[in-house]
Amino acid sequence: MDALNRIEQALETALALGTGDGNPGCPPKLAAGLRHAVFPGGARIRPQLCLAVARACGDADPRLADGAAAALELLHCASLVHDDLPCFDDAPLRRGIPSVHAAYGERIAVLAGDALIVLAFQMLAHSALHAPARLPGLMGIVARRVALPSGIIAGQAWECEPYVALPAYQRAKTGSLFAACTEAGAWAGGGDPADWQPFGLCLGEAYQVADDIRDVALAVELLGKPQGRDVALCRPSAATEMGLSGAIVHFDALLERAVDAIPACTGAAMLRAIVRSESERLVPQATVRDLALAA
Ligand code: IPE
Ligand code: IPE
Ligand code: MG
Ligand code: MG
Repeated sequence: MDALNRIEQALETALALGTGDGNPGCPPKLAAGLRHAVFPGGARIRPQLCLAVARACGDADPRLADGAAAALELLHCASLVHDDLPCFDDAPLRRGIPSVHAAYGERIAVLAGDALIVLAFQMLAHSALHAPARLPGLMGIVARRVALPSGIIAGQAWECEPYVALPAYQRAKTGSLFAACTEAGAWAGGGDPADWQPFGLCLGEAYQVADDIRDVALAVELLGKPQGRDVALCRPSAATEMGLSGAIVHFDALLERAVDAIPACTGAAMLRAIVRSESERLVPQATVRDLALAA
């Protein structure tokens, strides 16, 4: 089975764990809100990264890798549900459809985000049933990248402070989960997570810089989410701080650093190819780079 099918199947397993199949004990609106947050997905880049690193490390435990990949995507989906709430970015659109609060109301969106975070850890436990000794290490990797002092939650909290340096903010809100993907992939695949941390962190920082570029350069139909949000909300953004061309130069430099940080392994060429194709998907030549040059 290819990686994308493995990911969708693992996510279905996770949702079945949480909401059951039409389980009458589960509040229907919350169950629907959870599903709305996860399906249909976006790029699924985080779980793909987790599985690609696991493969590059020897794919020692595919079941654990699938569980970790799904858990990391659930955490990402949770972060989007909360990020879109009126008290954060107030975004009515996500992945081309109404955001969870727009579809189901704020109370369900808060609870859906909370439930997805818990479900992620439930999924990790479920996927380690055959290898319980490997669970605490995996839990530690993931928890550290979600919470304080420098996980996603810390990253979002920096928006509530009067000042934050851009790299620290971007590494926390986005780099941290990418680092969890490379570290957890290595853990499940039989590698050393510490070797894979710089690659994940740097790639995630680049990914947020690309998101900032896309926020100013692409239309809402392409983004599937509101455009121009960072400027409207005065969010720290690479495009605002460096201008569009400066942000593109910064993005390219971060991607080069990410590629250089890929540890020597049999899967290194495959990982380099993934990074290069992501670069063109995120910051396309025709619609973004040429536009920046023309400006
Ligand atoms: C959006 O992430 C939020 C960021 C942290 C940049 P993605 O662009 O990966 O969102 P989906 O999952 O593809 O919708
Ligand atoms: C979101 O950053 C980071 C999260 C951890 C959710 P953004 O606010 O820039 O992401 P989008 O643009 O809404 O996807
Ligand atoms: Mg947002
Ligand atoms: Mg954004």
